[in-house]
Amino acid sequence: MSGAVIVGLQWGDEGKGKLVDLFAPKFDAVARFQGGSNAGHTVVIGDEKRVFHVMPSGALQGRLCIVGSGVAVDTGILLEELSTLEGAGVKPKLLLSGRAQVTTRLHRIHDGLEEARRGSGAVGTTRRGIGPTYSDRALRVGLKVADLLEPDILEDRLRVLYELKKKIFKEVYGYTDMPDFDGLYDELLDHGRRLRGYIGKVEYELNRLVSSGGRVLFEGAQGTLLDVDYGTYPYSTSSNTVAAASSVGTGLPPNRISHVVGVAKAYTTRVGSGPFPTEDKGEHGSILRDLGKEYGSTTGRPRRCGWFDAVIVRYAAMLNGADQIILTKLDVLSDFEKIKVATAYRIDGEETDEMPLTAEELDRAKPVYEELEGWRSYGYGFWRKAREEGEDALPKPLRGYLARLEELIGVQIRGVSYGPSREEFLDLGLEL
Ligand code: IMP
Repeated sequence: MSGAVIVGLQWGDEGKGKLVDLFAPKFDAVARFQGGSNAGHTVVIGDEKRVFHVMPSGALQGRLCIVGSGVAVDTGILLEELSTLEGAGVKPKLLLSGRAQVTTRLHRIHDGLEEARRGSGAVGTTRRGIGPTYSDRALRVGLKVADLLEPDILEDRLRVLYELKKKIFKEVYGYTDMPDFDGLYDELLDHGRRLRGYIGKVEYELNRLVSSGGRVLFEGAQGTLLDVDYGTYPYSTSSNTVAAASSVGTGLPPNRISHVVGVAKAYTTRVGSGPFPTEDKGEHGSILRDLGKEYGSTTGRPRRCGWFDAVIVRYAAMLNGADQIILTKLDVLSDFEKIKVATAYRIDGEETDEMPLTAEELDRAKPVYEELEGWRSYGYGFWRKAREEGEDALPKPLRGYLARLEELIGVQIRGVSYGPSREEFLDLGLEL
């Protein structure tokens, strides 16, 4: 029983990267199980800010970094990250699943073409080729990482994929500027050659590691509301982002996973299109964006911002089986006199505290707000005091905010993050 999963309970960007980086030393390995270079995990070390897209955040902690079969691997980006790490004096220990799907230039082009075709109905993807990589996997025309190691197999598989894309690009999108086949083939073969030493059987290695008492931390990417089945489809990503995907995406069975830590921001943000009931397009939203520096780490896009939505977080905590919650970016709320929390929705005149089935219905949801006291008058020194003396040193309204969220979500808040650095974290009894 030695796996713990960290997952986002909103629309991604909950600050999971910092937490994975913080907790990695307690584990032997850190594993990614879904998503790809659409993710951007920002980790701040001293004055340096680093963003990883494919590498698990634990790379900086010298842990074994696992990229499981469920990940869409842009091998070019992974190689760049490896050389950045090496340049910074970090020798990454990487194990890349030979079963993972490869995201190629063809997938990135396809993503952009499909977004353009959708026009005003665009998903607002990161254009990193994620949707096309997963749809090609389901169609069984994708490339697996292990294929990059076999020149003949790669040539055959790439030919099938290439010809299909050529036809689709031309006939559906009127796009004829195909990359050259030989160039693409050589590039992928070169990626395979450079990654060879890292490619292996994650399912065996991980099960062996856990059987011999090793511990693994699973790093979720995106958030539960972006899950392809349980999120705000079609305004979602293309993988399952919930904790259960950690098993499927690595080959470690679910009965070996003992903890699920749900991470939620103290307010709500979203990048890209789709329903967002508590979105605040006015003053409060822009204050949250400015104070929280809410700009996408992968695309630089400004994030949409709004108050905490307890309906989505309760739903996400349930789906993931979160046994504890970490609330992040609580410092961003320090400047508000009053803080709002959505406790339910009113949809077509009916009140509900459950997530509706469709994105359209969620789009019609009007949040029912409760207003809570802010802790503005208390200054900022209380965080350090609370780290030394315990949570009683926190301002009363802040404790009130945490208690009310716990009640609404139905899961204990066992940790609070109040700034980007590793030190800015208050442990409230976290069990990992
Ligand atoms: P895709 O995953 O690039 O296909 O994008 C689909 C949707 O998920 C878009 O709304 C993206 O903005 C969103 N998305 C994808 N990855 C992330 C992430 O790491 N954080 C936040 N949103 C993301």
